[in-house]
Amino acid sequence: MAAIILEGKPLAERLRNEIAEQTAAFTARTGVTPCLAAVLVGDDPASQVYVRNKQKACEKAGIRSQMHHLSAATTTSELLGLIARLNGDASVHGILVQLPLPKGCNEKQVLDAVTPLKDVDAFHPENVGLLMQGRPRFLPCTPHGCLQFLLSAGVETRGAEVVIVGRSDIVGKPLAAMLIQKGRGGDATVTVCHSRTRDLAQVTRRADILVVAIGRPQFVTGAMVKPGATVIDVGINRVDGRLVGDVDFDSAAAVAGAITPVPGGVGLLTVTMLLKNTLTAAELQTAG
Ligand code: GUN
Repeated sequence: MAAIILEGKPLAERLRNEIAEQTAAFTARTGVTPCLAAVLVGDDPASQVYVRNKQKACEKAGIRSQMHHLSAATTTSELLGLIARLNGDASVHGILVQLPLPKGCNEKQVLDAVTPLKDVDAFHPENVGLLMQGRPRFLPCTPHGCLQFLLSAGVETRGAEVVIVGRSDIVGKPLAAMLIQKGRGGDATVTVCHSRTRDLAQVTRRADILVVAIGRPQFVTGAMVKPGATVIDVGINRVDGRLVGDVDFDSAAAVAGAITPVPGGVGLLTVTMLLKNTLTAAELQTAG
């Protein structure tokens, strides 16, 4: 049985149209246009593409964007100066520091400096804490994108065995926190696997829903997938000039019930949920 392909494009388009409508209504009501400030340090070509895509998506949704492109030689203290300026600028509602930062920059210190109300990535400890307690201010963009696939495809999370491969602060940990919350899109039994997990395939084969975010090209194969499972591939890797996910698509699709493609899958939803968070940030910062 061939898997259903969970295409990101139509889902992202539908959600972006909804966000654009909500943004237009917000701007009409308040006179405020939401604004995202993107901070890009260095010349990593992939990061440049990601930030450009985020800016283009903002424009289409009626959200203003600023680009702050700094040289790879930028110091942590210079970066902290820029973040302080953006924190204090009332016309900026969301601040996104594109990762990874160059080796010389103290990533934790920089991310912690973003004021929590403008932290549209939901990386700040205050926002992580609120998420853990089931009262999120912002849902982190990539985990929220994964969840949108499950909700739109009608995949039941309640009581489901979910296995997440990868324990990153950006995807694995927050997604696990979201899936164990009570209510819609939650109530799952979640296992988080990582490089020290014993007999990984035995664990992944238990999953009704398998999410892979490990940053290794085509790492999960069909032999690691339970027949009929839903597979969400968060990875984006360039191999011989071609983009591939963390899942070996062909072998996994032959076993899974549904699977997200790369490209054209989770990445589009990550950008979409950033738009949502930027609108939420503007709402939170606008009196009345
Ligand atoms: N680099 C890779 N993923 C992300 C993300 O979700 N947010 C930011 N700011 N940088 C990233």
